[in-house]
Amino acid sequence: MTPANEHDNDMTLTNRQGHPISDNQNIRTVGSRGPSTLENYHFIEKISHFDRERIPERVVHARGAGAHGYFEAYGTVGDEPVSKYTRAKLFQEKGKRTPVFVRFSSVVHGGHSPETFRDPRGFAVKFYTEDGNWDLVGNNLKVFFIRDPLKFPDMVHAFRPDPVTNLGNPERFFDFVSNSPEATHMVTFLYSPWGIPANYRQMQGSGVNTYKWVNKEGQAVLVKYHWEPLKQGIKNLTQKEAEAIQARNTSHATQDLYEAIQRGDYPEWELCVQILSDDEHPELDFDPLDPTKLWDHEKFPFLKVGKMVLNKNPENYFAEVEQSAFGTGVLVDGLDFSDDKLLQGRTFSYSDTQRYRVGTNYLQLPINAPKTHVATNQRDGQMAFIVDRAPGQSPHVNYEPSSIGGLKEAAPSGKDHEPAYNAKLVRQKLERTNDFGQAGDTYRKFEDWERDELISNLVADLSICRPEIRDRMISHFTQADADYGRRVSEGVAALLANSPHLGSVSAQEGAEIAKNSGHGTD
Ligand code: HEM
Repeated sequence: MTPANEHDNDMTLTNRQGHPISDNQNIRTVGSRGPSTLENYHFIEKISHFDRERIPERVVHARGAGAHGYFEAYGTVGDEPVSKYTRAKLFQEKGKRTPVFVRFSSVVHGGHSPETFRDPRGFAVKFYTEDGNWDLVGNNLKVFFIRDPLKFPDMVHAFRPDPVTNLGNPERFFDFVSNSPEATHMVTFLYSPWGIPANYRQMQGSGVNTYKWVNKEGQAVLVKYHWEPLKQGIKNLTQKEAEAIQARNTSHATQDLYEAIQRGDYPEWELCVQILSDDEHPELDFDPLDPTKLWDHEKFPFLKVGKMVLNKNPENYFAEVEQSAFGTGVLVDGLDFSDDKLLQGRTFSYSDTQRYRVGTNYLQLPINAPKTHVATNQRDGQMAFIVDRAPGQSPHVNYEPSSIGGLKEAAPSGKDHEPAYNAKLVRQKLERTNDFGQAGDTYRKFEDWERDELISNLVADLSICRPEIRDRMISHFTQADADYGRRVSEGVAALLANSPHLGSVSAQEGAEIAKNSGHGTD
C-alpha cells in the first residue's frame, strides 16, 4: 500500500524518489561562488535523466506523428460474410469496434527533417484486438523499390546523405535504382506528385506486401490491404507547392493532423482488401508475391471490410509516438504471412531493431502492450516493471509445461493452415520479374499534370547525375513506355544544353540542387 504523503494531490515538485524539492534553482556549492559538491543528489538525478532523454531514432521512418482512434468492422468482405475467408475476430461482427493507434511517417531522413520531402510516407496501424495486437505496417504508395530483403540496407544507404560529406545527392539514389530495375515502378510513383502527399490525412495507405487470410477450416487466400481516405479525400503536391510550404513550415503534416483532431474534424479511412486464391497464378505476367507490383483493381476489386476513425491526439509525443513499435510479425489468429520474401525479411527486422531502440521489454510499455489477457513466462531483462502472470498462476512457476500452477496452452480456434513445400533451397529471383510493364501502365494512367510533374522532377535530378546512370534510367523508362523515356531524355538534353555545367557538377553544387529537390541532408 502507498503511504499517505502530505503532498499527495497537490502541485509540489518532487524528484523521482518522491522527495519534495524545496530549491530547484540553485545547486549546492561551497559558498555562493564556490565549487559544487558531488552529493548534489537532486541536481545529479535531474541532469543525468536529461542526458538520457533521447533513445536512438528509428533507423528509417524517424520523422512521424501519431493518433489514437478505432476500427469498426462491416462484418462482410464486399457482399460476402468475412468468415468465409478469415476467422480473425476483429472483422466478424458488423459494428464491432477495436481501438487503434496509428503512426504516420516519412522514411529517409532524421527525426526533425522537413515533412515536405519527396519520400514514401509510412502508415502503421496497431489494432488492440481481443486476441492480442495486430500491426498493419504499410506505406502510402502501393508498391516498393525492391523485392528481396537482402537489398534493404544498401537501398537505405543509397537514399541517405554521402557518408563523407553528409550531403544529400540524387546521384546516390539513381546509382542504386538504375542498377535495380525492379525499382522503376516505385520511382515512377515517387517522382510524380504521389511522392509528396499534401499531409498525412489526405493520403492512402497500403500493406504493400502480400499476406494471407485463414478461415476456420484452415483454408487460405492471398490478400493485400489498402486504406482509402473517406471524407478528407486524397491530395498530392507539386514540387513548387511543397517548396513553398517548406519555406514556412517544416512540420506542416504533424500540425495538420494534430489540429484536425483537436477541432473534431476526425480523419477516416476505409480498409479494403484484394483477394486472390493461394497459388502461383501462372496466368498473370507477374508473381502475386512481388511487392513491386499492383494487383489490377479491375480484375481484383477492392472489397471493403471496415473503417477507421482517428479521434484522439497523444497526450505525450515521446511516450506514445516515439516509443511505439510496430512490426509485420504481429498478426492475430486468422491472419497469416505469405511467402513474400520482402515480408519475411521485414518480420525479423522490426522486433530486432525495437529490442535495441526501445529495449528488451518494449512490449511492456502502455502504447505497445495489448489491451487483453497477457500471461507469459518471459521474465526479467532491462527495465522489466511488470510480471505478466495470470491471476491463477503460481508466482514460482515461470515455465511450461507444469502441473503445479503453470500456464496452459490455448485451445486451437480452427484448423491450422499447413502449406506444403517441395523445392530446392536456392538463391534465385522470382521467375516473372516483369520490371517495366506496370511502370508503363502507371505512367499512362497518370493525369497530364501528374505526368508533366514526373518528367520535370526526374529531369531536374537526373541532370546532375553522371551520364551512365542517366542513360540506364532512360533505358528503363523507355522499356516501360517509349514516350516516358523520350520525354525524360529530351528534357535532360534540353536542360543540359541550357546549363552545360550541370552535367559535371561538383559535389557542393549537386548538394545545393539536391536540397532544392528534396534530397537535402537531415
Ligand atoms: C520502419 C525495416 C520495408 C513500412 C522500419 C524500421 C525498420 C524497418 C528496421 C524501424 C522500426 C522501428 O524502429 O520501430 C524494413 C525492412 C524492409 C522494410 C528490413 C524490407 C526488407 C518496408 C515496407 C514498408 C515499410 C515495404 C511498407 C509497406 C515501414 C513503416 C515503418 C517502418 C511504416 C515505421 C513504423 C512506425 O511508425 O514506427 N522498417 N522495412 N517498410 N517500415 Fe520498414
